[in-house]
Amino acid sequence: MDMTKLNDDFLWGGAVAAHQVEGAWNVGGKGPSIADVLTGGAHGVDRIITTEIEDKYRYPNHEAVDFYHTYKEDIALFAEMGFKCFRTSIAWSRIFPKGDETEANEAGLQFYDDLFDELLKYGIEPVVTLSHFEMPNHLVTAYGGWKNRQVIDFFVHYSEVVMRRYQKKVKYWMTFNEINNQKSFKAPLFGYTNSGVIFNDAENPEETMYQVVHHQLVASAKVVTIGHEINKDMQIGCMIAVVPLYPYSCHPDDMMLSVESMHDRYLFGDVHVRGEYPSYAYKEWERKGFNIEITAEDSAALRAGTVDYVGLSYYMTNTVRAGVKGEGTATAGFEGSVPNPHVKVSDWGWQIDPVGLRYALNLLHERYQLPLFIVENGFGAIDTPEADGTINDDYRIAYLKAHIEEMTKAVTLDGVDLMGYTPWGCIDCVSFTTGEYKKRYGFIYVDKHDDGSGTMARSKKKSFNWYKEVIASNGENL
Ligand code: BG6
Repeated sequence: MDMTKLNDDFLWGGAVAAHQVEGAWNVGGKGPSIADVLTGGAHGVDRIITTEIEDKYRYPNHEAVDFYHTYKEDIALFAEMGFKCFRTSIAWSRIFPKGDETEANEAGLQFYDDLFDELLKYGIEPVVTLSHFEMPNHLVTAYGGWKNRQVIDFFVHYSEVVMRRYQKKVKYWMTFNEINNQKSFKAPLFGYTNSGVIFNDAENPEETMYQVVHHQLVASAKVVTIGHEINKDMQIGCMIAVVPLYPYSCHPDDMMLSVESMHDRYLFGDVHVRGEYPSYAYKEWERKGFNIEITAEDSAALRAGTVDYVGLSYYMTNTVRAGVKGEGTATAGFEGSVPNPHVKVSDWGWQIDPVGLRYALNLLHERYQLPLFIVENGFGAIDTPEADGTINDDYRIAYLKAHIEEMTKAVTLDGVDLMGYTPWGCIDCVSFTTGEYKKRYGFIYVDKHDDGSGTMARSKKKSFNWYKEVIASNGENL
């Protein structure tokens, strides 16, 4: 084995989520999901959570980029780039339209059978997230979302059905996408998309958030256990949004604030990996007088269902400074966060910090000693086609190149055990935070715009051939 290179079986690919690409929101028996009641927003304009569908609003996820109908054409393009894997999610409400049924919707199951078969035809491994911001809306309106313990059973049932059905087609699974977003409990979008709960509406928002996430952690652990019983070869991971928080300076107070702030980033991953809550969680609950209901059965489930690997998204770092009150000006709204004078930001204010990726991989590797999988990274930017239709996204190539270089150092210099790399939005899709088409990540351009215009035609950006060469050379030719 050449220690200076990535392994030959490194999983290069791309990532999307069902609700951001599929569209066909009410086709094939699919029920409305929480993504279907989110309006379109913009940078600085929040998406509105309407709870039910209202005629006066525009809901971009209803149409998305129509992947439901175009997946064959799109997968052929992924295959042309040489993808070894493709990460997507299963829309829970295609399988259980309301979420509380016993019988699954066969048309929904068949859709993913066909999708996975199409990938496997080209030797592309499906990497599947079970819950990526798209629980059935009925579970929110009728049950109160993940506040309600019953939702654990609904999720476990759904997961068991799909894992049993696709056990011979899908080896790599993840339970909850970016479960730790919810730690920023004041942002309605995060709680709603992860759990169907707006924490600010609760009497004690933060305590409610912990209870809600606890239910998900238990559900996740149960699913890991059941998945291994169905097929012991399945690899089942968690998925953590890693936004490392740097100290603003070497002042001891800045350093300590960054350590404390990082607890927020680690907490849920710690439970997924170790099967128990870290001591700092109990101390915080004690300090704040929180009473989180954790039964003996829950604790046993958590211990039994620890994950096989850690999936992560990495877009940026943030910086924290002691003495800055409230949520600072930097993106992601962490307590005490301030702009980092050493890094630039994207048009959406996201810090661009490739070295932060190597740092993040080291942090997780040293903490967990489990294989890591970068299942999201990328550059959301405005692409303007030239008069001849070409799209010269050199800025995206530069971003990805710099991140791949740092990722490679983490493997070859630091010895991080890394399974693969799937850049986000390998085909343009609807942005999660803003609901825009304009914020594009893809190697493949989709002619669709925020005013509703566009043909949905696909075309290759400059980054398409660049990434093809990256994969062909196993990351050598950047
Ligand atoms: C992650 C999500 O937060 O970041 C994706 O898992 C999301 O669903 C991605 O799309 C990029 O965020 P945005 O808002 O630029 O689409």
